Amino acid sequence: GNTMDRDELLFSYKGILYPVALCSLEVFRAMESFEARSDDVILAGYPKSGTNWVGQILSDLVATFEKKRLDEEKSVNHEELEEFPYLEIGDTEKYERMKKLTSRRVILTHLAPGNLPKSIFKNKAKILLLIRNPKDVATSFFHFSNAWSALPSYETWDDFFVAFMTEKMPWGSYFNYLSEWNKYAADENVMTITYEELKENRALGVKNIASFLGISLTGEELRSVVERSSFQSMKENSLKTHGALGSMLFRKGGVSDWKNLFNEEQNEKMDKVFEERIARTKLGAKLKY
Ligand code: A3P
Repeated sequence: GNTMDRDELLFSYKGILYPVALCSLEVFRAMESFEARSDDVILAGYPKSGTNWVGQILSDLVATFEKKRLDEEKSVNHEELEEFPYLEIGDTEKYERMKKLTSRRVILTHLAPGNLPKSIFKNKAKILLLIRNPKDVATSFFHFSNAWSALPSYETWDDFFVAFMTEKMPWGSYFNYLSEWNKYAADENVMTITYEELKENRALGVKNIASFLGISLTGEELRSVVERSSFQSMKENSLKTHGALGSMLFRKGGVSDWKNLFNEEQNEKMDKVFEERIARTKLGAKLKY
């Protein structure tokens, strides 16, 4: 975490806060030139919903798909996927580099739909929407904020909880994020998956994602994607895949860790907001709450 003044660590773009260490107005402006393709795979998730986990599953699936395609075409493709695959994180040139990729692109994002390039919807890119119980998201976000210098730190969990219930978070409010995505949840090019269902049955989750993307897998290929995406194996590889950030990203990887932080009052407060804003929506029906 970073103890500098929050106002210096975050800036606002179209009404939502972002960390200055990761995002900038220039990059948001450059992003306007991004043109989505119908075979793009967009992974959308509020921070700490398991984006890096599902991101790895998606790159493995697409790599399997591309390998088959290249075998059939008897050609080779030396393209590398972006090292830092978040749409809104990087330099102003990244969208030009992305234009040159000929393989299927896997793009991660924490952006709410209103801040995403319009072509993602217009060109019907495949969108995998990843959602996680807000209590576990808050818990994970709290620990991550205090661990990583790119994010403002919080002296106490109680301070963090107050901020989490407002718009004062990097990438905005969880509840606004879900409300916004609700408008797209029934679209044919959008599939929703929960962290919890993937945790419960990874093989089934991977199969469902693959079929949404039109990627067929042999039993062997499925087994490999499933094995490589276990918490244990991703944590062990994290230095190689994520550098120093790895030790902060792969923390516990479970369900219900919120019970170690929330007091009764906070629990009731969140239940109330969830009930009022999310419970009776499409995503609310899917969320494991
Ligand atoms: P915890 O902090 O609760 O452990 P993101 O990638 O969106 O930042 O999300 C990070 C969360 O996903 C962390 O949650 C992390 O442990 C969890 N995670 C990462 N890889 C995982 C895996 N293979 N299986 C289960 N959870 C995983």
